[in-house]
Amino acid sequence: MSELEYGQQRQMEDPSMIGTLRTQAAMIWPLELPILGRLGFANFEQMADLGCGTGEFAGRLVAQWPSLRVRALDMYEGHLALAREAHPQADYPSLDFVQGDARDTGWNSNGLDAVTIRHVLHALPDVDVVLAESKRILKPGGLLYVLAEDYAGLIFDTPGEKAEHLFFDAMPALMQHGTNLFHGRAAHRELRAAGFEDVHVEPLVIDTSNTPRETFAEMLGFWRDGYANFIANALGVPAEQISKRFESLRYTVLDEDRYACWLSFVVSGRKPS
Ligand SMILES: C[S@@+](CC[C@H](N)C(=O)[O-])C[C@H]1O[C@@H](n2cnc3c(N)ncnc32)[C@H](O)[C@@H]1O
Repeated sequence: MSELEYGQQRQMEDPSMIGTLRTQAAMIWPLELPILGRLGFANFEQMADLGCGTGEFAGRLVAQWPSLRVRALDMYEGHLALAREAHPQADYPSLDFVQGDARDTGWNSNGLDAVTIRHVLHALPDVDVVLAESKRILKPGGLLYVLAEDYAGLIFDTPGEKAEHLFFDAMPALMQHGTNLFHGRAAHRELRAAGFEDVHVEPLVIDTSNTPRETFAEMLGFWRDGYANFIANALGVPAEQISKRFESLRYTVLDEDRYACWLSFVVSGRKPS
């Protein structure tokens, strides 16, 4: 890959991302489902999932609501191939995986009841462009649903150094690569600036009380494998140093005595009618 479309593209397309997306979905879906229900997904007919990755979320959506037609779009053909393999048309007739750019889908205006974007916007320098495109393809009154990450929300009872400080340390350097580790708190303002109405935030607390510790630890292992080098290069330190700090997070969630929590945000808004 010579030219990157965005700074974190290599990490998003790294094989470790497949495990990251699998474990994240396993942890988060049970918390999201009641929110999706309250937001009216049972009544929607047509929607899109932008930056769908390996289809973990889109697949769960149509398994839950089989009459919902979901167009799942991603830039990276590698993830889409896995998504299609895991969700054959015969079993998921209302789900399509398509290659494309969330900044310019080429789809008709005013066509969709909902657009979802999960774990994507923090990594993109041009959030406003994706939000404008989402608004264009939504019907008037249609729902935008964003799962926004904010790494200040990693609250871990780590031994010794507070290992979540890794993300505070990494934040300025990753910002140079177009990644905003504190995007979660900004999403409310960004949706309003893009012209969405009824903008609402629901915090998601993924923690050692509501999530199996093994899954949490597995996810952190994938984060380490995918991001230790990236963060180390950005900070100009050896990768082993950053791996050790991820290991401290993993150690914490595996210790029955210790509590760990990952706070994320569902931010939703409606296109004006
Ligand atoms: C962390 S993954 C999230 C996958 C999925 N939304 C989930 O929650 O499991 C981010 C995905 O966004 C995709 N992506 C990044 N920029 C994109 C763009 N401009 N258009 C379409 N997909 C994009 C990446 O290829 C990657 O698969």
